Amino acid sequence: MTHEILTPEEMGEADRRTIAAGPYDGYGLMLNAGAAIARHLLAKYGDATGFHVLCGPGNNGGDGYVVARLLAESGATVDVWSSGAPKPQTDAARALQDCPLQPRPIGGFRPNYGSLVVDALFGAGLNKEITGEAAGAIGRANEASVKRVAVDVPSGLDGSTGQPLGTVFKATSTITFFRKKPGHLLYPGRHLCGALIVSDIGISKDVLRDIQPRCFENTPDLWRALLPAPEADTHKYKRGHVAVFSGGATATGAARLSALAAARSGAGAVTLLSPAEALGVNATHLTSIMLSRCDHPEDLRSFIETRKASSFVLGPGFGIGEKARDFALALLRNQDAKLVFDADAITSFRDHPDILFNASRSAPEIRLVLTPHDGEFRRLFPDIDEKDVPSKVERARAAASRSHAIIIYKGADTVIASPDGCAAINTNGTPLLATAGSGDVLAGLAAGLMAQGMPAFEAACAAVFIHGAAARRLRFGLIAEDLPAAAAFVLSDLLGNLV
Ligand code: ACO
Repeated sequence: MTHEILTPEEMGEADRRTIAAGPYDGYGLMLNAGAAIARHLLAKYGDATGFHVLCGPGNNGGDGYVVARLLAESGATVDVWSSGAPKPQTDAARALQDCPLQPRPIGGFRPNYGSLVVDALFGAGLNKEITGEAAGAIGRANEASVKRVAVDVPSGLDGSTGQPLGTVFKATSTITFFRKKPGHLLYPGRHLCGALIVSDIGISKDVLRDIQPRCFENTPDLWRALLPAPEADTHKYKRGHVAVFSGGATATGAARLSALAAARSGAGAVTLLSPAEALGVNATHLTSIMLSRCDHPEDLRSFIETRKASSFVLGPGFGIGEKARDFALALLRNQDAKLVFDADAITSFRDHPDILFNASRSAPEIRLVLTPHDGEFRRLFPDIDEKDVPSKVERARAAASRSHAIIIYKGADTVIASPDGCAAINTNGTPLLATAGSGDVLAGLAAGLMAQGMPAFEAACAAVFIHGAAARRLRFGLIAEDLPAAAAFVLSDLLGNLV
């Protein structure tokens, strides 16, 4: 599976390199793009009463003129509407010249029931809000009871951020070329694209060697080879030991969910570090998970010396404040520990984020994973905001660089980013995960995979994917307690005959 995601600029570079290397020139690529779209339309929507093709002034419009010509040649009823003539001597001008249909001014466009509207107004070249007659046409298309297919990127959607620039064409499906763009996968873009189809237009994947994309769709191809499979002669402590901090007597469930998820991820041993007041309630709920008293950072020091845990989860249900900060900083002083700071551990640094970031930077290797949702992200990184940095990928990258940590920026379009700029957009999330405790399970999965030796970025990506896949297996009615066992089934499938 192809998992590189290209920014519109990188896609432009892929076009240029392809044109320079041959065999296709710009017009050849445009013909390939138009042919791919026309093929799709005729195969999927051949029963439409007619096609309206909306064409802009740039190359996206050029693709549209090719589509219109091919549809007309197939015998379909086609109307072409133009929002502005292409510049002379361009590929789009040539496509218009080769199109036997006379385009009409877009102000006259009225979609009729049962027809299909092709949006070839603006693609990657969109650089401002769409206004005037083109915006009016998009509005009429959106309101009509018709199918809507966008070419490359729905007009009005920023292909790099997934954010709308004013009026946006609401596509039933979007056909893009060669590789997906961030705007197809980040919300609200993902929703506005409808079903996404990636078409081949003759660009060789060899161009990626030079472009070296740094953003990927979170598929198992990215990290499957690094999944920890137990050796035949292993024993439990060789399979990693995870320690999870429990909250006080009335807030223990979140940590137990993390602990259970860590155990189900394959870690050989899991210990719940519990304050004295919660030992009783934790003990009555645990079987395979060990329990150890831990009230102060000194207790932690002796636990680390004697029990050799390889990764820690701090935050779920823990409570916000000085105690969380003290444990977090004590963990960060131990340069061997792999760490997941979630929920309250993140919020506890809201007034002093630099203390956390400086402590994290003291270790050369990346061994800290932070798992903020939107609210927690704003608390820890108040100046990396949507207004200045509209792309969620860029916000996650900036946060990773600032904190010297892997960021799992949670949401329907979770982004995982590393301080070296590598980023992955997760696409298997489901609204079923919007349930109490599901984040605690995710933290435990990431810690469990890291404890077994998986590098932090890959462990974070794998945990997010496994979490989503587990929820999809369970379907409606899932509660967080169900997720760890389902995650183990997902892992079994991913490991295949390695276990
Ligand atoms: N209102 C009015 N005009 C606007 C707006 C707006 N809101 N936003 C942008 N424009 C104008 C731009 O100024 C530009 O006009 P100009 O060329 O006169 O400056 C024009 O609209 C650009 O719009 P696009 O068609 O979106 O951009 P571009 O010409 O760069 O084409 C492309 C985009 C290449 C088709 C891209 O979507 C893509 O990669 N598609 C897939 C691959 C493909 O089709 N390749 C073949 C194309 S040909 C080739 O590669 C050379």
